[in-house]
Amino acid sequence: MTPKIQFRDVSHSFDLGGETFAALDHVSLDIADGEFVTVVGPSGCGKSTLMNIAAGLLDPMSGEVLVDGEEVRGPSPQRGVIFQQYALFPWMTVRKNVEFGLKIAGVGAEERRRTAERFIDMVGLTAFADALPKTLSGGMKQRCAIARAYAVDPTILLMDEPFGALDALTRVQLQDRLLDTWSRERRTVMFITHDVDEAVYLANRVIVMAARPGRVHRVIEVDLPYPRTEEMRLSPEFAELRREVWHSVYHQPTPIERTSP
Ligand SMILES: Nc1ncnc2c1ncn2[C@@H]1O[C@H](COP(=O)(O)OP(=O)(O)OP(=O)(O)O)[C@@H](O)[C@H]1O
Ligand SMILES: [Mg+2]
Repeated sequence: MTPKIQFRDVSHSFDLGGETFAALDHVSLDIADGEFVTVVGPSGCGKSTLMNIAAGLLDPMSGEVLVDGEEVRGPSPQRGVIFQQYALFPWMTVRKNVEFGLKIAGVGAEERRRTAERFIDMVGLTAFADALPKTLSGGMKQRCAIARAYAVDPTILLMDEPFGALDALTRVQLQDRLLDTWSRERRTVMFITHDVDEAVYLANRVIVMAARPGRVHRVIEVDLPYPRTEEMRLSPEFAELRREVWHSVYHQPTPIERTSP
């Protein structure tokens, strides 16, 4: 079966003060339809760059990204993007924020409202549907951003440290909610995180990247059944996976020295 997302030999460099800096070096990775993949790695290893390329927000310098076998040439409503900073419109209520993408897509008022309500309910914000973002906590804003991303019915969700700014308890609750939604809707998810526990808890597979240049260092299968539970977090299997991911993130080989031009 054609993978949902295929990174094929993707390389990208940035110009830093006249010097070329390899942010991604020949990254190849297939993500299956309906898979939940988490991406971890040291700061600066190219995680966001990789995601921006998948989102179509950035063109790779070489290589390509295919979605359903077709080359990505720009952003698409088929790929919902969620960033760490809750990108909500401050002047719009939760409901209007969630309806926004549907409105752009030309969906009629009544259907828009119905769809928005369903996803607002899914993230537990029904009581706040008419509230403005400034009256919401960080976790609530991020739930609103998730509802908004889901509402336009993307087949892929690209999430760049979406829970990074949240407290530990809210984070754990949102992880469960996200998994709950994922198991019902089965979208393909690529989820970047710094948190090793989060990476293991959510994923079918954890992609560990290495820095300088950014590349795929290891791919670790998470052989734990869904639904994931509180007890699983405390199981020896979980501890072993966490140890394995942790080790491959923090004890990476020294960066590859680039000697050739
Ligand atoms: N617009 C840009 N201009 C120049 N350099 C950039 C740009 N964006 C990223 N880089 C560089 O590319 C490298 C990879 O950046 P990227 O943001 O993808 O890393 P990351 O893995 O997401 O890091 P973090 O975990 O800190 O978010 C970094 O060294 C960064 O300095
Ligand atoms: Mg980043």
